[in-house]
Amino acid sequence: MKNILFVFTLLLLFQSCKENTPPKDKVQTSKRGLITKKAMVVSAREEASIIGSDIMKKGGNAFDAMMATEMALAVAYPYAGNLGGGGFMVYRLADGSTGGLDYREKAPKAATKNMYLDTNAEVIPNRSTVGPLAVGIPGTVAGIFKAHKRFGKLPIKEVLQPVIDLAKNGFIVTKNQEGRFKEKDSIFRAVNGHKLLFNNDLKKGDRVLNFALAETLSRIAENGVNEFYKGETAKKLVEFLNEKGSIITLEDLAAYESKWRDPIEFQYDNLKVISMSPPASGGICLNQIMKMIEPFDLKDYGHNSLKAIQVIVEAEKRAYADRGFYLGDPDFVDIPVETLTSDIYLEQRMSNFSFKAPTPVDSISHGKIEGYESDQTTHYSIVDQFGNAIAVTTTLNSGYGSKLFVDDLGFFLNNEMDDFSSKSGVPNVYGLIGAEANSIAPEKRMLSSMTPTILEKDGELLMTVGTPGGSTIITSVLQTILNVEEFGMTMQEAVEAARFHNQYLPDEIRIEPNRFDKKLIEQLESLGYIINEERSPVIGIVDGILVLENGTLEGGADPRGDDTAVGF
Ligand code: GLY
Repeated sequence: MKNILFVFTLLLLFQSCKENTPPKDKVQTSKRGLITKKAMVVSAREEASIIGSDIMKKGGNAFDAMMATEMALAVAYPYAGNLGGGGFMVYRLADGSTGGLDYREKAPKAATKNMYLDTNAEVIPNRSTVGPLAVGIPGTVAGIFKAHKRFGKLPIKEVLQPVIDLAKNGFIVTKNQEGRFKEKDSIFRAVNGHKLLFNNDLKKGDRVLNFALAETLSRIAENGVNEFYKGETAKKLVEFLNEKGSIITLEDLAAYESKWRDPIEFQYDNLKVISMSPPASGGICLNQIMKMIEPFDLKDYGHNSLKAIQVIVEAEKRAYADRGFYLGDPDFVDIPVETLTSDIYLEQRMSNFSFKAPTPVDSISHGKIEGYESDQTTHYSIVDQFGNAIAVTTTLNSGYGSKLFVDDLGFFLNNEMDDFSSKSGVPNVYGLIGAEANSIAPEKRMLSSMTPTILEKDGELLMTVGTPGGSTIITSVLQTILNVEEFGMTMQEAVEAARFHNQYLPDEIRIEPNRFDKKLIEQLESLGYIINEERSPVIGIVDGILVLENGTLEGGADPRGDDTAVGF
């Protein structure tokens, strides 16, 4: 049903912007997104982009806009916007300095390695994905405060006031949201025991007022970050969680800290790529894939051509195999980052690549796989009038996270614990397998695929980009970058173009339905590739900002969602 709704919504979307949408993968050369001179926010909701942009108009910078946009998404996009989740931010300041912020959720102190296994050591279905035990310690509020403390300019109260007003005055339900509220209504009722504020009565155009969230945000604006981790909000949250059977304590919340991390940085041709480091896997995987494909002439092969798809898929396969084995929380495991991203290692990794046939997965690594759920998270990109750029990806994990909604506080809680490997070699909701490096331990961060990324060209800011999409995040960011750099697309064309995905296991290429030529699919199949056109109605919902040669900004807002670029 979910898939049908999604496909139907997509059909409507593509129909309504038919004149502007490239047929299949034949890309027009002139379609531009919003152009502005100074500043821009591109996010999953128009309200959030407007609020972020207005904060910059008032003299705020990208980090003020981050706090406002992130909280506005929590109000207007409860599917993935959040106070009860976590995320990652990569920044590049006007002076060229860069950094990364990790506000990923953590496992509670009482978490154990086998907490999702039964007495036969089998994974108990749904325990890590739905309800109280799926919830990790939320990091979002700590993250936005940490970023604001170091770089923000405007007072917190001024930044949060428009968001509090949005929660009080309400946001307008979109067609996409109407479909999702309907689809999730029964699971919301099953998990929470009653009908939620977000329910199947809501129709497109209805206004949703969230007074509980307005109050929570007002207390946070008044009392600061400690309100969420040690104050009244923390007490209410833990009381709620414990009543539901969670193992999260007040001590867990009080101990949570977001962390500055050095981003992963590497060259691809004449681009400098700056992306998120572990516990996000995005930066390392992007580095590996881009270095493995760099020697091939993708431009010559052509966008979404047989040869380009083969090279990219085979590089993805190898990177995701490494991801499953080596990557985890760097505070708990030693990750051989230098080796994994070294030229020698990556050359050797691609040495058995051939255009004649797929490299068998057994010869790359091992594992078995089946079963998945929905891919949700959200991304926003901001460039301010001072020349600072940020890329932020934030999530509850699945759509609406654990589906647990804290009525008194007005927000959903994540199900990020499923991003751990519950059992070595057994896939999570994204079909991703993991190993010891990503096993559960008290206070450990679960591995993420989030890939907020910034590009420089010739020492100048070129792009800020990212996307939701679970395991498909990395490959969607990759293709968007290549679309601009190799295939000459505008930012808007690059985010709209049809996408494909391979994650090593399952051994298949996922493609967006009805967007690839039948002949191309046949050619791939005759070479031995398995094509899955069913699994992902959309692959990624990418939002990016491109700095054009004349210094203006072009927004790329993905029509796969309700995403909107706003700026001045
Ligand atoms: N929860 C999806 C991710 O972090 O990769």
